[in-house]
Amino acid sequence: MTEVATEKSYQNRPKALGITVRKLQFNPKLIRRHYFANSPVMSHLLTALSSTFPIGEQFFVHSVRNVRDKVKDEKLQAQIAAFIGQEAMHSKAHAQFNEAWRSDDYNLDRFQAWLARRNDYVKNLHPKIQLAITCAFEHFTALLGGYILRHPQVLATLDDDAVKLWVWHAIEEIEHRAVAFDVYQAVYGDDKVRRMIMRSVTTGFASLTLYSATRLFLQDKRKSLPKVGGNIFGLYLLGKMFVQLMPEYLSYFKTDFHPSEIDYSKMVNYWKKQLAEDYQMKSFQHELKPGLIN
Ligand SMILES: [Fe+2]
Ligand SMILES: [Fe+2]
Repeated sequence: MTEVATEKSYQNRPKALGITVRKLQFNPKLIRRHYFANSPVMSHLLTALSSTFPIGEQFFVHSVRNVRDKVKDEKLQAQIAAFIGQEAMHSKAHAQFNEAWRSDDYNLDRFQAWLARRNDYVKNLHPKIQLAITCAFEHFTALLGGYILRHPQVLATLDDDAVKLWVWHAIEEIEHRAVAFDVYQAVYGDDKVRRMIMRSVTTGFASLTLYSATRLFLQDKRKSLPKVGGNIFGLYLLGKMFVQLMPEYLSYFKTDFHPSEIDYSKMVNYWKKQLAEDYQMKSFQHELKPGLIN
């Protein structure tokens, strides 16, 4: 009952151009542990990221809500509502995904408990700093989302339910990539702090992800180590990602940077069609042919 009510309340909100709140239907139990290109390295890395999402994305929402009443622009208010709706759905889906992994030999709980303690600390910082942290992370999630979507051949090797989760999330991260940034500019517009926080977030995010992915890899080493080919391929993808994303990452430090200057429309449209047709995802079918499918 609560779920239906929540979903309907999103539908009643004013439309935010280009940002659609979609409900994900997937079965995380059908996803193998080494789901990403049969590569333990890449799979543990993405699972490590996933373990940060339930807490992380709730924090993003919190940091925008902190200053929401200072935003006068109605269009931006509608986008904030859609952003909150999307992140709430992501948080829920990744909590389901993480829950499906909980087992004696693969433990995400300790890391998540540590994150929860950090979250309490960060929520006591000045609202401007909190929002600048969100802007930095939203730049990363859009970049990573774009990178995932640029690799249809790799995605074709994933379990269907893994594609549904990661591609759906990637598309929506791209759709709402400018919301926190626009709120920050409207309320504070302090580029110096925005860039300074990006430097700290980059170091923190990279070390956190590396630490947590390594922990998962070591917990699973008996199954992960023998997959030499998959691991080499994973390291190749990571190296390529680093080189390809560097210019986009650095663009954040320009004074006139805006997240929408990176154009993802071609790959987003390609994947919306794929999810509707090949993966039969109702929310995308409805979007492409409104009125035909309930
Ligand atoms: Fe998200
Ligand atoms: Fe996001």
